[in-house]
Amino acid sequence: ALDERVEGLLRRMTLEEKAGQLAQYSQGVPTGPGTGRGDHEDMARTGAVGAFLNVVGARETNRLQRIAVEQSRLRIPLLFGFDVIHGHRTLFPVPLGMASSFDPALVEQAMRVAAEEAAADGVRWVFSPMVDIARDARWGRIVEGSGEDPYLGAAMARAYVRGYQGASLAEPTSVAASVKHFAAYGAAEAGRDYHAVDMSDVNLRQVYLRPYQAAVEAGAATVMTSFNTLNGVPATANPYLLTEILRKEWGFQGFVVSDWNAIQELVNHGTALDGAAAARQALTAGVEMDMEGNLYAPELPALVRAGKLSEAQVDEAVRRVLRVKFALGLFEKPYAEQTAVPATVSPEKRALARRVAEASMVLLKNEGPVLPLGPSVRKVALVGPLADSGVDMMGPWAGRGEAREHVTLRAALERRLKGGLVYAKGTDFLSRSTQGFEEAVRAAASADVVIAALGEEAWSMTGEAASRTSLGLPGNQEQLLAALAATGKPVVLVLFNGHPLTLQGAQAQARAIVEAWYPGIEAGPALANLLWGEVNFSARLPVSLPRSVGQVPLYYNALGTGRPAGAADLTRPPTGTSDKYISRYIDEQNTPLYPFGYGLSYTTFGFSPPTLSAKGLKALEVSRQGQAALQVKTQVRNTGPVAGTVVAQLYVRVRGASTAQPVRQLAGFERVRLAPGEAREVVFPLGFQELSFLNARSERVVEPGTLYEVWVGDSSDATAHVEFTME
Ligand code: IFM
Repeated sequence: ALDERVEGLLRRMTLEEKAGQLAQYSQGVPTGPGTGRGDHEDMARTGAVGAFLNVVGARETNRLQRIAVEQSRLRIPLLFGFDVIHGHRTLFPVPLGMASSFDPALVEQAMRVAAEEAAADGVRWVFSPMVDIARDARWGRIVEGSGEDPYLGAAMARAYVRGYQGASLAEPTSVAASVKHFAAYGAAEAGRDYHAVDMSDVNLRQVYLRPYQAAVEAGAATVMTSFNTLNGVPATANPYLLTEILRKEWGFQGFVVSDWNAIQELVNHGTALDGAAAARQALTAGVEMDMEGNLYAPELPALVRAGKLSEAQVDEAVRRVLRVKFALGLFEKPYAEQTAVPATVSPEKRALARRVAEASMVLLKNEGPVLPLGPSVRKVALVGPLADSGVDMMGPWAGRGEAREHVTLRAALERRLKGGLVYAKGTDFLSRSTQGFEEAVRAAASADVVIAALGEEAWSMTGEAASRTSLGLPGNQEQLLAALAATGKPVVLVLFNGHPLTLQGAQAQARAIVEAWYPGIEAGPALANLLWGEVNFSARLPVSLPRSVGQVPLYYNALGTGRPAGAADLTRPPTGTSDKYISRYIDEQNTPLYPFGYGLSYTTFGFSPPTLSAKGLKALEVSRQGQAALQVKTQVRNTGPVAGTVVAQLYVRVRGASTAQPVRQLAGFERVRLAPGEAREVVFPLGFQELSFLNARSERVVEPGTLYEVWVGDSSDATAHVEFTME
């Protein structure tokens, strides 16, 4: 019946109306180089537009929708898209923060709230999740994704899609997801945004494509292309990605939208001589909707009439767009109900946002231990440009968040400490002046503990178009930190940032370090709960934190080398041939400062050596769909004084395979909450997904004659080990 409705409409549409369905225009704040074309009301009336972006609010969307539904010839409803990335009205932590929770179920719950708020605000399509694997800390957009690991990335991708799309897209509280940016955008050369990507097919499929595929399998209704070229072919006109892989291999039924102006940018890439050629290339490759490029609407009809494009191709694109509109129930319920949902951030939503924030902040260092702060701490000095900045707590892509509603650390500590808080900003993000240092140092000297809230300014230093070549604390913040530490008072460094930072200098000054990312609307209360130990830290790093920029790209699941550094002492320059002709730097260690999967707690955990449910496996029996072939078991025990949650992690390495495989890769994780002294068995199933890899022909295989090494623990440095053979 749905198909008949789509076909019925298609038969009645003119070429211009078809092209119009494939055009998306922006109103309001541009999220790319500004263009600002056309009269939107007139477009809606004449069927010259199928979707808008950046039109938000039930009143505004309903106004345009009414024109489309009541005044256009075919009464096809519009689709309104918006960058709902980590919340709409109620902002949760930035995606890299949410990934640090290693808690997909919690992320799904949070993104359900985002969907409800967006839908009530007239937005039925969100440009999320961003599932780009990012291994280059210089890239500003690393903050928008789930980090460096495909297994964690895939789990998070599924969680976002489930949260947004709910049980059914037709629910008025569900929104269509847009998996982006397809594909491999996170691998931009030199970490510079929009730059080229060149990589092997094995790497593309084994690492980069996995989260996109997971999102598509979870039912994501749309996919957004990326700005980059991939192996010389722009992703926005890439038949291999969009037709071969996405549609033919994965069976994707939804529609593909270009990124902002990306079809027009094919001319800059040099694969199209003009706009008409760009439109033809993109549509032929499999891009159904033109976001703000203003090429499909004007060019497609002429291309068809000139015989340069078949009408059937245009029809197929329109069909896909209409199907999503039908699936969303827009033909039946085109309007947003003007409820109070988006207008209020209820106490329940705040409580959820606080829980997500608490689960997202990583305790990196705790010497002494200086944390948790106890009753003996009467006076706290709070210093730094991020101590009282609501706008920065929102992080990049702040949707409809309101800075003034974001509870800063200063506000939360004032509430908690009453007169016991002394605040001094100390410096600004890019300041060279040390004028504010004196006041900050005086505050520090007068206090029992210093909390330094330092990091990056959210909107200008992180997110899109915010790549950096240095990854230290910007401006003179590290100098300020040193001045604070020189008072002799214990300094707790709380970092708010989007890039993984190089913290060697800061680490030497601070007694404790908390990686808070940008925690969202309940930033301050969540942090205070953690700092005072009312809630225990449980988050783990979804990215490696480098020692120096020169190590970047740095990620734990790298391929090995023929000359591994092994046990060589890399803290000093080579002294002879045995520690020189190995894969190393002469002036830096190979390892990160803090590894993937790492994070401290106020308690400690122990893992028993893992055991296997079988001694070995037969490659032929590890079927694709079947049950898990093998189980890995370990006892996890809380060996410390307080209750806590550990993220039990399983890592695997395959040796003897026809292609070199990463030195280890995540193949399972589970959050386990344990009372002091309590132990629990954790069981990790290993099936085809976890055990297979790509051979040189890009086929996913399990090969006989291979050896699997398995580690369990609470970071990618896990040491508890077992191995088995695949016959
Ligand atoms: O969704 C974004 C994308 O991530 C970057 N370019 C603009 C789009 C729409 O705002």
